[in-house]
Amino acid sequence: MKILGIESSCDETAVGIVCDDAPRILAHALASQENAHRPYGGVVPEIAARAHLAKIDDLVRQALAEASLTLADIDGIAATCGPGLIGGVMVGAMMGKAMAAVTEKPFIAVNHLEAHGLSIRLSEDVPFPYLLLLISGGHCQLLWVKGVGAYELLGASLDDAVGECFDKSAKLLGLGYPGGVLIEKAAKEGNPNAIPLPRPLIGRKGCDFSFSGLKTAVRLAVEAQEKPLTSSFIADMAASLEQTIAAILQDRAENALSLLETRGDKPAALVAAGGVAANLAIRQALTSCAARHKLPFLAPPPALCTDNGLMIAWAGLERLRLGLSDPLDTRARPRWPLAPKQLGEFPDE
Ligand code: KG4
Ligand code: ZN
Repeated sequence: MKILGIESSCDETAVGIVCDDAPRILAHALASQENAHRPYGGVVPEIAARAHLAKIDDLVRQALAEASLTLADIDGIAATCGPGLIGGVMVGAMMGKAMAAVTEKPFIAVNHLEAHGLSIRLSEDVPFPYLLLLISGGHCQLLWVKGVGAYELLGASLDDAVGECFDKSAKLLGLGYPGGVLIEKAAKEGNPNAIPLPRPLIGRKGCDFSFSGLKTAVRLAVEAQEKPLTSSFIADMAASLEQTIAAILQDRAENALSLLETRGDKPAALVAAGGVAANLAIRQALTSCAARHKLPFLAPPPALCTDNGLMIAWAGLERLRLGLSDPLDTRARPRWPLAPKQLGEFPDE
């Protein structure tokens, strides 16, 4: 089975092609919009939607050429239908639907969060169930993954997403956009114990997260400095922030693993996914957390942690092989929770 997947929910336009036999990855085409958004210090939705439209055709052609396939060889077309910046989501979803309509192949409407969550199964043979820490620019959640489409939300951020905390702090430090990677780079030169930062919710029960107080603490520390900021302050703050975030994620994952143990649930692994899972310090902190529970820690290779078309294609493949596909009138959605925490929370639009 060969599936083509389209991603356009944020600032990467991407097309991937996967198949269910090794080597699984047949093509990986991606155009980042970093340069278009850099002057604004963050993603501008209107610019993103136009840039997706400008690039999407070429990327589909590029992916098919890389895989030496034609559309006739593809068994299904998957596209992100949400959650995300709606203008961009509509571009990719329309492209996917049009291709499915023309070729009369099944269309799979992929939830971007589900795609992050299943992406580990593209690179590793990990069975269900597993504990997933989904850490990206827009989300921070702990999910109990029982199977395709079967997710239980154990905890989520009460305010900002973890990637947002990296991105806003990078902006305050004058490191620019995209923030997480630049913080990781700057942190290499800094002392992680130099600046004490608050660790919201650490040591408290439950699996929820909070990052807004941490972000405010970074802002206050930056404001208290003489300008321009010295490179040693920037490096020390980057290292301190990275270590603090790693400790928060570790503490919350620890609580989730203990909760699963109490319930008698046995995860195959602790899995991290989403752009922030590319961070090495965070991967190391989660590795030791998993080891304490005698579990492997798994995360996709860094290039597949951030948004890409392969994860959309893979989620499409996982769904289609279970017989799941979607009608061509499926809507693009700005919000699309994987698993509401309790009834009435996160109403869909
Ligand atoms: O999954 P993703 O590409 O897009 C969303 O679905 O949000 O995640 C993007 C987020 C951004 O906040 C970015 O700063 C963060 O992932 N990120 C990182 C690293 N690479 C990307 N954060 C920390 N360290 C990194 N190396
Ligand atoms: Zn993402």
